[in-house]
Amino acid sequence: PLSSPAEASGARGTMTKVPVRPAVLPPTPTEGPLPPRLGVETPHAEQLSELFAQSLGIWGLDIFLVDRLSCQHPLVTVVYAIAEKRDFFNKFRIHPSTLVNYFLHVEQHYKQDNPYHNAVHAADVTQSTHVLLNAQALDNVFSDLEILASIFACAIHDVNHPGVTNQFLINTENELAIMYNDASVLENHHCAVAFKLLQEPNSNILRQLEDGQRKQLRKMVIDMVLATDMSKHMSLLADLKTMVETKKVAGGCLLKLDNYSEKMQIMQNMVHCADLSNPAKPMPLSSQWVTRVMEEFFSQGDREKALGLPVSPMCCRETANVEKSQVSFIDFIVHPLWEAWTELVHPDAEHILNTLEGNRDHYSDLSAAKE
Ligand code: CMP
Ligand code: MG
Ligand code: ZN
Repeated sequence: PLSSPAEASGARGTMTKVPVRPAVLPPTPTEGPLPPRLGVETPHAEQLSELFAQSLGIWGLDIFLVDRLSCQHPLVTVVYAIAEKRDFFNKFRIHPSTLVNYFLHVEQHYKQDNPYHNAVHAADVTQSTHVLLNAQALDNVFSDLEILASIFACAIHDVNHPGVTNQFLINTENELAIMYNDASVLENHHCAVAFKLLQEPNSNILRQLEDGQRKQLRKMVIDMVLATDMSKHMSLLADLKTMVETKKVAGGCLLKLDNYSEKMQIMQNMVHCADLSNPAKPMPLSSQWVTRVMEEFFSQGDREKALGLPVSPMCCRETANVEKSQVSFIDFIVHPLWEAWTELVHPDAEHILNTLEGNRDHYSDLSAAKE
């Protein structure tokens, strides 16, 4: 007897292969109760609505306040607000409850105990990209599907992060490193977890897309998330600089990008900029991120010491010079990237670069005062 629809459709024989589909598709989830107006219940709904109305599109939205007002659902509420603003519900026929279900799963899979790599960081990167997408130079550059892919990629880009680096996972022969053969271990894991979670009941936000669109979106999300691996930073930046130099910016306004590879380079750099945006935020926000990222590094350092491994750079809580390491991180990594991005979207990101430079000088002054 035939054991599967694939065999029944002739997969073993010489007949044309027919894609396997259930005989009757489940009903389209266009009906059913709507979630609360911000995606989740919170006693601070009024204040949070007001905050989003004022600042969802602003560089420097207080994401820590969003975390508190949303009762620790920063990612669900930020994604929900962006989906409303960008009309994802209608454009992609996503039922609001499906969106909430999916991002509740994603949010739960961010580890709350990580000082830095938690759902607040994911919400921060997502909202930052929402702002970057609004640059005038990017008007009419990206399709709706590309915009959805960018927001989706940011929301999931560090999901289930264990709070230690790729190198730590490799050095300790962690099962994730074994699984991914030491190559972009974390970034592969973030993608795999995110796509797996789409299979939870009533959580497939991509269900209503056409097969081609779904495949395209999946490819774009994977390309963007894998590019958040810091070992790809130099080559990404080189691509971005080439693009700026070859004058892809026409009249300081519209970018002329003619193929997937060029567009993807911009999208990868945009998400990477958002991922490296904490040093370019207003100081009260930036300093909280530094405290968090350093605490996570120090915990890794503690574990390295306990295991008798060499302690990674910036990870020794006894000897670290936080201010000095911020100056170096900005000078060698963050500033070159933002400088190139600012040139690409001129004059939109000028204020971001200024904030970054101000923060750099602040850390430099603090560091000098210590000596
Ligand atoms: P991740 O968010 O996975 O990708 C970017 C990485 O840059 C981030 O992990 C940290 O390892 C690092 N990073 C981000 N912000 C800072 C910072 N302010 N100081 C030092 N390292 C940082
Ligand atoms: Mg990451
Ligand atoms: Zn990140």
